[in-house]
Amino acid sequence: MNFELSRFDLADAAIQKGDAMIVLVPKSFKPAGGVVSALIAEALKAGDLETKCGKSLHVYRAPGVTCARVVLVGCDEGLARQVRQAAAAAVAVVKSDRVKSLAVCFAWPPAGDAVRAVVAAIADATYVYSTTKPKADVRAVTRVVIGVSDVAAVQADFDHAVAAVHGVELAKEWANRPANYATPAMLAVAAKSLAKMPGIQCEVLGPKQVAKLGMGSFMAVSRGSEEELRFIVLRYHGAAKSQAPTVLIGKGITFDTGGISIKPALEMDEMKFDMCGAASVLGVFRALADLKPAINVVGLIPSCENMPDGKAVKPGDVVTSMSGQTIEILNTDAEGRLVLCDALTYAERFQPRAVIDIATLTGACVIALGGVRSGLFASADDLAGDLHAAGEAAQDPCWRMPLDDDYAEALKTNFADVANVGGRAGGAITAAKFLHRFAAKFPWAHLDIAGTAWKGGTAKGATGRPVPLLLNYLLAQAAKSMSAPRKPSRGTRRKSA
Ligand code: BES
Ligand code: MN
Ligand code: ZN
Repeated sequence: MNFELSRFDLADAAIQKGDAMIVLVPKSFKPAGGVVSALIAEALKAGDLETKCGKSLHVYRAPGVTCARVVLVGCDEGLARQVRQAAAAAVAVVKSDRVKSLAVCFAWPPAGDAVRAVVAAIADATYVYSTTKPKADVRAVTRVVIGVSDVAAVQADFDHAVAAVHGVELAKEWANRPANYATPAMLAVAAKSLAKMPGIQCEVLGPKQVAKLGMGSFMAVSRGSEEELRFIVLRYHGAAKSQAPTVLIGKGITFDTGGISIKPALEMDEMKFDMCGAASVLGVFRALADLKPAINVVGLIPSCENMPDGKAVKPGDVVTSMSGQTIEILNTDAEGRLVLCDALTYAERFQPRAVIDIATLTGACVIALGGVRSGLFASADDLAGDLHAAGEAAQDPCWRMPLDDDYAEALKTNFADVANVGGRAGGAITAAKFLHRFAAKFPWAHLDIAGTAWKGGTAKGATGRPVPLLLNYLLAQAAKSMSAPRKPSRGTRRKSA
C-alpha cells in the first residue's frame, strides 16, 4: 500500500482525485469555504450528519466534487483514538473492489498523532492476508493520499506511521501463516531477507550451534518435532558500535500442540499464532530499516515446534539451561518460558541497556487483561514507565503486572533449581517470575501478548501488536540519547544529588 502526504485542506477537498474520499468532521466543526465544507454544514444543520465518533454519511456524486464517493465521518474531539475509530468506520463504508485509491481530509488542522492514527486505521482496515489465499482476496485499496495544510509539521509523524504499517503488515502476514508455511527454517529465511535492507544484519544458528551453546532448555522443547530448530540473531546498527543495544526477544513457537501435556482439540489451530512475538520482532526490524533511528537493536528469536513424539520431552524431565540452572519440566505446554530463558542468557553477551521479551506466553494473561492491553512485567521502573507510555502513544496499550518474589514460591521443586510451572493461580505472573531468574544481569521487561497478538472468531487474524508499541519505545529512546548529555568518561563519578 502506498501512502502519500499532500498539501490540501477542507477548502480545496472538492478538487481532490480518488475513488473515494473520507472527510473527518469534529464536534467543533467550523465552515472553511468550498463545496465540501458547505456540504458538511448543510448535513449537520439538517441532522443527517452527526459528529459522534464513527457516525457517517455517504454522499454520491455531489455536484462540484471530483471524488464520486465521499464519506463524511464524525470524530468527536478529533483525539487520536477517535480519529482511529472514525477512519476505520469510514473505510468499512466505502470498502469495495471498485475503490482502489482513497483521499483523506481533516476538517481541522490535525496534530501529528491524528495523522498517525489515520494511517494506522486505514492500513488495518484494508489489510488482506495473501500467503495461502493469493488470488481470492486481493487488497483493493492500494493508494491513500492524506491531506494536511502544513506538510512539514506532520512529516515526521507520517513517516513514523508508514514505517509502523510496514512493520505491522510484515508481522501480521508471518503470524497469520499456517505452521506448514511458517516453520522455524522459513522464519529464518524471512529474517535473512530482512538483512538485505540497509543497517540490518542476520545470523542464524541451527541445532548443532545451539547444542554447543548449551541451550538445553530450548533444545528440550524442540525434541518432539521433525522440524529443526533455529535461533535467529538480527542486528540493527543506527548508532556508534560502542552504544549498548536494546535487545528484543520474540517467542517463536511455530506451532504449540502442548507436547506430551497435549492441548485439547478445540481452537488448537490458533496455536499457529504462538510465534507472534517472533513476528513482532521481524516487524520492528522492518520499520527500523525504514526510519534508521540513531540506536542499536538486537533481535533474538528462539524458534521451534512443540510436538508430542517418542523423542519428546516428558513431564518430570529435568534439563539444564544455558545459564546452568536446572529446570524440572512439569508441564510440557509451558514451553515458551523454556525457549525464552536460554535466549535471555544469550542476551547477556550484548551487555544490553535493556532486554524486552515478547511472548504469547499464558492463557492466564488473556483471563487477566483480555484483548485490550498486553501484560507488562519489568524489573526496572523507568523501563516499565517508558514502555507503558509508548503503548499509550501508539494506541497499542499495556498494563503493568507485579513481580513480587512471593510469587516465585510456586516454582519451587525438590528435583531442580526451578520448576517450569506453578499452580493455576497467578499464571501470567509465575511465568514472568520464571523468566525473571534468567534476567538478573540487565534491566528487563516482558510483554505477555497472548490476548492482544491475534483475534479469534470470524475476524480471526493477527493484529501486528505490539509492533507499534515497540517502535514508539525505540524511537523515544533514540530521541533521548540524541538529546542526553554525554556520559562522563570512565573513572569520573558524578556526585549523587
Ligand atoms: N502458547 C500458550 C499460551 C496461550 C494459550 C496463548 C492460549 C494464547 C491462548 C503457552 O505455551 C501455554 O500453553 N501456556 C500454558 C501454561 C500452563 C501450562 C502453565 C497456559 O497458559 O495454559
Ligand atoms: Mn504451550
Ligand atoms: Zn506456547
